[in-house]
Amino acid sequence: MQITSFEQYEENYKKSVENPEQFWGEVAQNFQWRKPWFKVLSWNFKDPEIKWFEGAKLNITENCLDRHLATNGDKPAIIWEPNNPDEESVTLTYKMLHERVCRFANVLKRNGAKKGDRICIYMPMVPELAIAVLACARIGAVHSVIFGGFSAKSIADRINDSQCKLVITADGAYRGNKQIPLKDVIDDALIGCATVEKCIVLTHVRTPVSMLKGRDVWWEDEVKHVNDICDAEEMDAEDMLFILYTSGSTGKPKGVVHTCGGYMVYAGYTFANVFNYQPGEVYFCTADIGWITGHSYIVYGPLSQGATSVLFEGIPTYPSPSRFWDIVEKHKINTLYTAPTAIRSLMSFGEEPLNGKDLSSIRVLGSVGEPINEEAWHWFDEKIGHGKAPIVDTWWQTETGGIMISPIATVTKTKPSFATLPLPGIQPILVDENGNEIEGNGVSGNLCIKFPWPGMLRTTYGDHERCKQTYFSTYENLYFTGDGCLRDEDGYYRITGRVDDVLNVSGHRIGTAEVENAINMHAGVVESAVVGYPHDVKGQGIYAFVINPEMHGEADLTKKDILQTVTRVIGAIAKPDKILFVSGLPKTRSGKIMRRILRKIAEGDTTNLGDTSTLLDPAVVDEIIEASKKY
Ligand code: WT7
Repeated sequence: MQITSFEQYEENYKKSVENPEQFWGEVAQNFQWRKPWFKVLSWNFKDPEIKWFEGAKLNITENCLDRHLATNGDKPAIIWEPNNPDEESVTLTYKMLHERVCRFANVLKRNGAKKGDRICIYMPMVPELAIAVLACARIGAVHSVIFGGFSAKSIADRINDSQCKLVITADGAYRGNKQIPLKDVIDDALIGCATVEKCIVLTHVRTPVSMLKGRDVWWEDEVKHVNDICDAEEMDAEDMLFILYTSGSTGKPKGVVHTCGGYMVYAGYTFANVFNYQPGEVYFCTADIGWITGHSYIVYGPLSQGATSVLFEGIPTYPSPSRFWDIVEKHKINTLYTAPTAIRSLMSFGEEPLNGKDLSSIRVLGSVGEPINEEAWHWFDEKIGHGKAPIVDTWWQTETGGIMISPIATVTKTKPSFATLPLPGIQPILVDENGNEIEGNGVSGNLCIKFPWPGMLRTTYGDHERCKQTYFSTYENLYFTGDGCLRDEDGYYRITGRVDDVLNVSGHRIGTAEVENAINMHAGVVESAVVGYPHDVKGQGIYAFVINPEMHGEADLTKKDILQTVTRVIGAIAKPDKILFVSGLPKTRSGKIMRRILRKIAEGDTTNLGDTSTLLDPAVVDEIIEASKKY
């Protein structure tokens, strides 16, 4: 299933378009199934209804663990690098990981979990997080991992939306020199979560935590009560594997649903190809398992291919901005997959942190999460890859399950700041506002996908209509990505950023409406409008225009109060970088906020604001411009 030449890529691509069922049927033969499918694909994008490998039975953990035991049982599956470099790293071989997953799967059963139950996971980046994820999959429970930066309210909303029965957490997490009290946050969340019966708590930082009798149990105690034999639950290819909440342009985050068979095939296939993974290599993806990148390219993709996956607890700048390079040297990393925001942040420290670091093990570099600017691309290429490691700029989304448009390392060409070409099986098209296809090269438009792929989302949990509206209704018979895109003269794709009201802050996806709702929850705030603006390190920063709130003390203090409210409602990751108090917002006569104008002001470009004649009160624009200049 690994492509080794450009000609083979072209052949495979052609075949995947002309005969997708045959193509994916053959790819799927590289995985272990308990029963084969009777139909590779049935689909329509209207409802939408998408079924891959219908009738097939499998368990993804047999593909990620059991099938490697005979040949690769003693090979490292996970290498854990702790936050504190003075602490020992931990290596789990496939045998050890298998044993721990089975044991913890039995803990889940002992605590009442069954196939189909939803389980919320809120944990630090420790091996037990991967173990918890895989243990859910082992018994057919549906995991919903929540990133450690979200607040109690965000957790409660997600737990309630999918009616989780269990929560798996830890006492706390280390992040650089900070400690995050995870169990405290969970305790606050669970006040409003009637469906949660049990909470399993891992000891990690050993900070004091409250343990409620009958509900809370310790991970370390529970594993003593069970053995490590746990047959994998037989799952239908289209049974739910996990839910992952993600932000959209409106309302609350939605639970993107991925299913067992198609997701497994897609995560495994794309991992093997994009990174050109070779047996014995050490692969390091710096994402958090709380996001889709961690699901697909720390856990499921690499493990399904018998790879060695490094799991890092800390942050790139702790204890110093040399940390990534120390890890590369220490574990002889062959593939480093990271985010443009991390690259830009490390770039800003200059070359000193690189002095004396041996990066010669690096063979492939990867970028994900946001457009990578040329400067960062070249720095990554020259300083980290020494001009010898292809950079795979991988475009994809939570909803796509795996990488969609990307170079294939050592096989297809790279181009600075271009995601380049679609992977086999992916049929991108560009459309104009009316949904007409924009053909030819040297064109831009909205990026859509016109044919299903195995890793695509199946629904949004509990609200299929929302899935249909969000992704399949903007343009008939197309999956709409929400991204703008350029196809250059050579037919290479460059993602230009979101065309909806979704922000990408340090690679984290945040809806402007969500941030506005959080700001508006602050006592004294009547209305606000949030837009993104270019930020040197974060990619996008959050700019909030807030109609003069009732002040409580100085304006600066009131701004801090608002930040505190946003932290409580969503989490620290959604805190605006700038808050500007204004007396009004630019609205049309029908009451719609003209974000275009606010975006321009936030960018500091007020020369050409376009047509403002439809505004209810054009004078407000000048006032906002004046205020923004004084910021
Ligand atoms: C959005 C999806 C994919 C995992 C991490 C983010 C942006 C993602 C790229 C890239 C330009 C990118 C898009 C996309 N994005 N990768 N290589 N080049 N933009 O997943 O949170 O679901 O966000 O991230 O705007 O729609 P996500």
